[in-house]
Amino acid sequence: MASLAIVNYQNTNKMNLEDNAKRDGFSSKFGILCAAAGSAIGLGNIWRFPYVVGDNGGGAFLLVYLGFILLLGIPVMMSEFVIGRRGQKNAYGSFKKLSKGKFWPWIGIMGILAAFTILAFYSTIAGWTLEYVYLALTNSFKGLGSEEIGAIFETFHTSDFMPLLWQVVFMIMTAWIIIAGVKKGIEKYTKILMPFLFLLLLIILIRSLTLPDASKGLEFLFKPDFSKLTTKSFLEALGQAFFSLSIGMGTLITYGSYVDKKNNLGRISFEVSVADTLIAIMAGIAIFPAVFSFGMNPAEGPGLIFNVLPNIFQQMTGGYIFALMFFVLLTIAALTSSISILEVVVAYMVEELNLPRRRSTIIAALAATIVGVFCTLSFGALKNVEIFNKTIFDSLDFTASNILLPLGGLFIVVFTGWFLGLKNVKDELTNGGIIKVRLFIVFVFIIRFIAPVAIVIVFLNSIGVI
Ligand code: PFF
Repeated sequence: MASLAIVNYQNTNKMNLEDNAKRDGFSSKFGILCAAAGSAIGLGNIWRFPYVVGDNGGGAFLLVYLGFILLLGIPVMMSEFVIGRRGQKNAYGSFKKLSKGKFWPWIGIMGILAAFTILAFYSTIAGWTLEYVYLALTNSFKGLGSEEIGAIFETFHTSDFMPLLWQVVFMIMTAWIIIAGVKKGIEKYTKILMPFLFLLLLIILIRSLTLPDASKGLEFLFKPDFSKLTTKSFLEALGQAFFSLSIGMGTLITYGSYVDKKNNLGRISFEVSVADTLIAIMAGIAIFPAVFSFGMNPAEGPGLIFNVLPNIFQQMTGGYIFALMFFVLLTIAALTSSISILEVVVAYMVEELNLPRRRSTIIAALAATIVGVFCTLSFGALKNVEIFNKTIFDSLDFTASNILLPLGGLFIVVFTGWFLGLKNVKDELTNGGIIKVRLFIVFVFIIRFIAPVAIVIVFLNSIGVI
């Protein structure tokens, strides 16, 4: 029986390969791991995580976040990989191939919409990061106190020209890597650079922990005060978990379609989630002790790391070089994420609309940049323009991260649990019966019942229905 299953699995494998003779793919297990971790680890961990934790009161929020990663994040990630590798196509194409009727491919389209939205505001922050590379390079923080460092940020991010220029530069870099393709582009860059970021973060974290009053920051991050949790916190924790793991919009369906049939999807999901969470917590430990040590406000919002980090570098021997290396690596971490976002759109345009890769990339990047301009200007010229009481930047971030991604995740688990066929799911997770998958029953129970119910409850809770 098992060997028949293996032969069948290998046959679908062969058919898929013939079907996709022209398709690019990752060349090794380490390559896919780095690319998926590269997508997950980015501004979401180092810029977004600390400020969202800060806004939501610290420790209790962290616990909810960790719960969501474990209970929802890993299963959604596994489901995305399963759909992608089974479907061997972009998010839209995979749903279309694996389902009947017209409904499911729309989930792919929703993912593409989320990709545009995220890319628009992601490139704003990535642009700020590039400015900080420049500031670090020119040693602009030297001898400044925390107020002057704050003033630099204030002047820069509310101005119109420079943030836009950097945003465009960042989008050109993203598009350039995407044009180079999967193996030569995505894999090559992520493989070398991710381990470096980890090391550097570790060094910064140690410095931050040895600042006076560091323990107050640790207490803020790790000591839960449940009275600080609001209904909004649950939605924000869910959104942050999905954003950080790059799930809910088909990024990992797309990457999954490039994964070799021999790789273990469950293990990759677990390893990527652990690495992503570790980096986020490390960023938290690097930021909060410094926030309290310099008497800053943890609920400062999107500017938090830009205000805090230069102060830490000021306190370090070799601060110049650490600052420079840090912002360069943060830019790279942002790039390995932004390429994964753009790839969702480009893979769709190439495979479904039959456009050349180069042209698709240019069109998609241009469109995202145009929306992105509004996000960037919403800190300056357009700061008084509000949609539902939020700036343009905040409303796009909120809609994509807290609504589109969890909604996408909901449909992804429902599709995998109820419509794909458990035999197919098992086949994909065990590589046709070759590898053992522990806890398959638990996984099925989560994607069929727990995850959908939990996501729906968080939604209903946040709009005040429960
Ligand atoms: N996970 C990325 C980060 O933490 O920076 C951002 C991201 C990438 C979100 C890809 C969504 C996505 F599909």
